Amino acid sequence: RPPLRVAVLGCGVVGTEVVRRLVTEGDELAARVGTRLELVGIAVRSLDAERDEVVDRDLLTTDADALVRSADVVVELMGGIEPARSLVLAALGAGACVVTANKALLAQDGPTLYAAADAAGVDLYFEAAVAGAIPIVRPVRESLAGDTVQRLLGIVNGTTNYVLDSMTTEGLDLEQAVKEAQALGYAEADPTADVEGYDAAAKAAILASLAFHTRVALDDVDRTGITALTAADVAWAERTGHVLKLLAVAERARTAEGRDGVLVRVQPTLVPADHPLAGVRQAFNAVFVEAEAAGELMFYGRGAGGAPTSSAVLGDLVSVARHRVLGGKGPVESSHADLPVLDRGEA
Ligand code: HSE
Repeated sequence: RPPLRVAVLGCGVVGTEVVRRLVTEGDELAARVGTRLELVGIAVRSLDAERDEVVDRDLLTTDADALVRSADVVVELMGGIEPARSLVLAALGAGACVVTANKALLAQDGPTLYAAADAAGVDLYFEAAVAGAIPIVRPVRESLAGDTVQRLLGIVNGTTNYVLDSMTTEGLDLEQAVKEAQALGYAEADPTADVEGYDAAAKAAILASLAFHTRVALDDVDRTGITALTAADVAWAERTGHVLKLLAVAERARTAEGRDGVLVRVQPTLVPADHPLAGVRQAFNAVFVEAEAAGELMFYGRGAGGAPTSSAVLGDLVSVARHRVLGGKGPVESSHADLPVLDRGEA
């Protein structure tokens, strides 16, 4: 079989790790896919930046637009809305499968991207966009598609969990703890997205859309970050038998007119110390799902970092490549029931 041409967009922490594994595990991946994954280019902003030696400089290009049109599979790891959005749409339009870790893009424009993938008959996979290494997108999107999810609770931002954990166990103040999280590579380049809850809200929007077969955008999520929390709040939580967590909550709720709807919020929450989510320490993530038939499920693991996130990216890459080799597309989206999204006032 001819090799599949793979283009990687972005060569930061995750991009470099994905490239490393494509290069060093090429034989193993080829055996799993049924053909070789040939890295044909890596789109970057600057050709001169310092790079890990695993990155072949001859593969670097600043012409991402040309690169996506010459690939069978595009792996988008640039982050942000533009130019990622245009490039993903161009790739899908040209018939390439897309794997992306771009939570902001999916939270803002998911339905447009799903529609473009459906129209082109190609896969759009995004396991790495929510909770890094934890398999959660596919379980919610596919495994639970025949069940009715009632509520989903998530610790989906490693930085804020690390910060709150350090404040609780080491008595660090917020600023010190954020610096540590940045030094460990968990935080976004601008930690505002973490500490103000935007990162968690984007992930909550993606999970809620999948879990409730509806369309939840970032603006639909009621969001409060952790910046107002003090050592006294953390101590109060402990004294009352709780642990403070930045929790994403998505649940079914009734509209004022008595119709079913979905309520999604991200906010610091007192989690009872005996709840499974209370034991999620450091920068770990977890998602707790309550479904009608399945009951309670918990997904736990590393939600950030180059290697853990590369696991989800490579998993998606192997899946879409296998579908490509077998001449088909992956599982079909479940139909969107268009449940209304409630703001907190309507609940
Ligand atoms: N900044 C994010 C976090 C990285 O701390 O969880 C993964 O999306």
